[in-house]
Amino acid sequence: MKQTVTVLDKAVNTHSLDKAEILGLLKAGNGSALFAAADAVRKKYAGDEVHLRALIEISNYCKQNCLYCGLRRDNAELARRRLEPEEIIDLAYKAKEYGYKTIVLQSGEDPYYTAGKMREIISAIKNLDLALTLSIGEKTYDEYKAYKEAGADRYLLRIETTDETLYNKLDPGMSLKNRMECLKNLKKLGYETGSGIIAGLPGQTLESIAEDILFLKSIPVDMAGIGPFIYNPDTPVFNGSEESAAGSEELTVLDGKGNYFDLSLRVMAILRLIMPDINIPATTAMETLNPDGRIIALQSGANVVMPNATEGDLRKFYEIYPGKARVSESPAESRLNIENKIKAIGRTVSEGKGFRIKTVRN
Ligand code: 5AD
Ligand code: SF4
Repeated sequence: MKQTVTVLDKAVNTHSLDKAEILGLLKAGNGSALFAAADAVRKKYAGDEVHLRALIEISNYCKQNCLYCGLRRDNAELARRRLEPEEIIDLAYKAKEYGYKTIVLQSGEDPYYTAGKMREIISAIKNLDLALTLSIGEKTYDEYKAYKEAGADRYLLRIETTDETLYNKLDPGMSLKNRMECLKNLKKLGYETGSGIIAGLPGQTLESIAEDILFLKSIPVDMAGIGPFIYNPDTPVFNGSEESAAGSEELTVLDGKGNYFDLSLRVMAILRLIMPDINIPATTAMETLNPDGRIIALQSGANVVMPNATEGDLRKFYEIYPGKARVSESPAESRLNIENKIKAIGRTVSEGKGFRIKTVRN
C-alpha cells in the first residue's frame, strides 16, 4: 500500500511513470486509491464538464477478420447493414436537434464508403456546425487527408495491443506497424487523434498493457478509449489463444475469460494520471459489464461519454460483442438517461464542442 501511495504521489505531481510503476498499479490489490487520484487529476486538468458525443454506427460490414470481434468478415451469424450517405446525414441532423455538438461516425472497415462518398457526408455534417470524429479504420494517407480537407476534426483508431506476437495472432492480415503508421499520419494531418486498447484479450499480459500505456503517451494521443474484452461466442478467439494462455507460467497472462472491468478502469485511470488533459471516454463496453460502468468510469478519470444516436436496424446489428449495453434505448432516451446520471454525480454536460484543451505539455 505504502508503495502504491508513493507511486501515485509521483504520478499526480510529475505525470510520469515508468513501466515497473505502471505494472505495480495494474497489479495492486485494490484500485480505489488509483481511481481517486485519477478523479482528482481529471477535475484539476479537464474540469467537471462531461462532453457528450453522438455515436452513429454507419456500417457493420468489415473486410478485416479480427479473431475477437463480432463484425469480422467470417462471422456468418451477423446480418449486415450499412447506411446510405443521406441516412447518415439525417441522423446527424437529428443528433444536433437532441443537443449534441459532436458526431462520431463508426463502422467496420467498409470499402463501400469511398473517399468521394465520405467527402459528401463530411461536408454535409460540417455544414450543420458540428464537430466530427471518424472511426472507420485503417486508410491511406491520402484518404485521411481527403477527410481532413472535407472538414473532419478527429479520428479514433485503437491500437488494440502493442504486443506484436499477440497482434499478429488476433488480427490476421493486419500489421501493427501499419496501424502505428496510420496513427502517425493522423497526427501529422492535424487530427485530434484517439487510440486505445482492449484490456483482457486472451494471451495478453499485464506487462504488455504497461507498454501499451507508454505507447499511447508516446504518440501522444489526444483521446484514449479503453474497453474490457468481452467474449463473443460467434468468434473463434478462444481457439486462437487457449494454448498460449494455458501454456504460460506467467501469472499475468490473461485468458479472456474473466471480467476485465476493473482492469480497464485501472488502465484508464493510469492514462489520466500521465496525460492529465486528454479526453477519455467512459466506454460502452464498460457499461456492458457493469450497469453503472460509465458513471464509475467518469469518477475514475473519464470525462467523455458517447451515447448511441443510431436509430432503427443498425443499432441492434452492430454487435461487436453480446449483451451490448443500451441497445434497446432510443437516441432521445440514451441522451436523457446519461444527462440525468451526470447531473446526479455533480457534474455538468458541456455546451461546447469539447476539443482537447492542452494545459500540460507532454
Ligand atoms: N470485446 C471488447 N471490445 C471489442 N472490440 C472488438 N471486439 C471486442 C470484444 N470482443 C473493440 C475494438 C474495436 C472496437 C470497434 O471494438 O477495440 O476497435
Ligand atoms: Fe473489423 Fe475493427 Fe472488428 Fe477488426 S475490430 S473485425 S477491423 S470492426
